[in-house]
Amino acid sequence: MDDLKNRNIHPETRRFLGREEKEELLGQRGAVLWLYGLSGSGKSTIANAVERALHAEGRFTAILDGDNLRAGLNSNLGFSDDDRAENVRRVAETAKLLAGLGVIVLVSVITPRRALRALAGRIIGGDFHEVYVRAAFETCAERDPKGLYAKAREGTIKQFTGKDSGFEEPDNGCLTLDTEASSEEECAAHLLKHLRSATAHGRPL
Ligand code: ADX
Repeated sequence: MDDLKNRNIHPETRRFLGREEKEELLGQRGAVLWLYGLSGSGKSTIANAVERALHAEGRFTAILDGDNLRAGLNSNLGFSDDDRAENVRRVAETAKLLAGLGVIVLVSVITPRRALRALAGRIIGGDFHEVYVRAAFETCAERDPKGLYAKAREGTIKQFTGKDSGFEEPDNGCLTLDTEASSEEECAAHLLKHLRSATAHGRPL
């Protein structure tokens, strides 16, 4: 806060309508399900299935997808370590804004490093639910839904995650959806169950 004052920035915290009023209107609590994993691991597929299930129950949701955001908000960012960090920072701040309005947010972003996941967790705070969508590099390369693994092999795409840019598996026991061992439906059901048992600020979502 002192840092903001020094920059002559004075955020309003009381005058505007608060989170409680928004959540009451929507009849739900905001949350962020942060799905991360290799390209082609199944993040967007699971986010889509879970969003549709929640929507059918009358829940208000949003998907923040890495590729979609990189077509707009993050269009000036590439795949260097610094750009990925800025990408994650912007996605996390956006997710935080939406969760603060009572929205259930599904994030689908590679977030390749533990430090990036920690950054997102720090920004989002108690609403942050970390979900690793796991599939081996070789499996993702076989699936290759966007043809990117073929390009990475040919060398026409640089800094490719898992090849010449690193991906760190989680070491914190976070929820893992293994898309090699389980179907899309099973992974979606698992995540929905997790969401239902989760609490926000000591209360059910
Ligand atoms: S992150 O590393 O910054 O978290 P993000 O999820 O936003 O990545 O973007 C990844 C998407 O960008 C991939 O799904 C893929 O379609 C596309 N992409 C383009 N170039 C690369 C690359 N070098 N590495 C990984 N993904 C890439």
